Amino acid sequence: MAKKFRAPTPHPSGAKPPKLSSDQIPRHVAVVMDGNGRWAKARGLPRTSGHEAGEASLLDLVHGAIEIGVKEVSAYAFSTENWRRSPEEVKFLMGFNRDVIRRRRDEMNELGVKVRWVGRPQKLWSSVIKELQIAEELTHGNNILTLNMCVNYGGRAEIVDAVTRIALEAKSKKIDPTKISAKVFEKYLYQPKMNDVDLFLRSSGEQRTSNFLLWQSAYAEMVFMDVLWPDVDRRTLWRAIEIYAERERRFGKA
Ligand code: FPP
Repeated sequence: MAKKFRAPTPHPSGAKPPKLSSDQIPRHVAVVMDGNGRWAKARGLPRTSGHEAGEASLLDLVHGAIEIGVKEVSAYAFSTENWRRSPEEVKFLMGFNRDVIRRRRDEMNELGVKVRWVGRPQKLWSSVIKELQIAEELTHGNNILTLNMCVNYGGRAEIVDAVTRIALEAKSKKIDPTKISAKVFEKYLYQPKMNDVDLFLRSSGEQRTSNFLLWQSAYAEMVFMDVLWPDVDRRTLWRAIEIYAERERRFGKA
């Protein structure tokens, strides 16, 4: 029997998603949640308070993504380069990721969100991996929206890891090295079922990809919003989608 899911909670302001046709809605939105440190600094707070404030932003964005009809969201929660931060901040971010996944998984499940982990196991705290796996198991049958939690993720690391696996399979003659196409290559990415990114959204005004979903974003529309992540809510996503809807996507065609 099909599972019944609860409707997303409306935004407290009463805001409703803009009226767009289904072909104007991106299927997959990649989100770089940037600006937590600056948000905290502006308030004389420790950087970690900015990350804490960012939890509600992600959750609101997920509710808003469901309301407008986005099918997949990828959130850059911890990058392979974030290990370079101070040991205190790394420790905080690891524990924070673990706790957010634990305390939000039932809400995600009720909304029909399928949670998937995308990233590298090396170095990642086993308690974080465990929480991600529990969330994946709990939500694997859901189909309203897929939320890729990119934890210990790096685009270059993902491509290098795929190349390593392909090279090993070529060496043991499981794969013919002359027959490696883009389609074959994608099967070796962390999450082969991921759709190409349609809309790449970054908060905080910075205009970089910072190594996020490099392969999958080859034809993504880039939208940079001048708002710090803790001030983001679903209305920021909807505005970005309005900008996206005005773009002309040609995918290399004339
Ligand atoms: C970027 O802001 C943020 C991160 C590296 C961590 C991402 C984590 C969150 C947004 C918290 C929400 C996470 C979950 C799991 C809900 P920054 O620290 O680079 O900010 P800055 O550029 O202003 O210093």
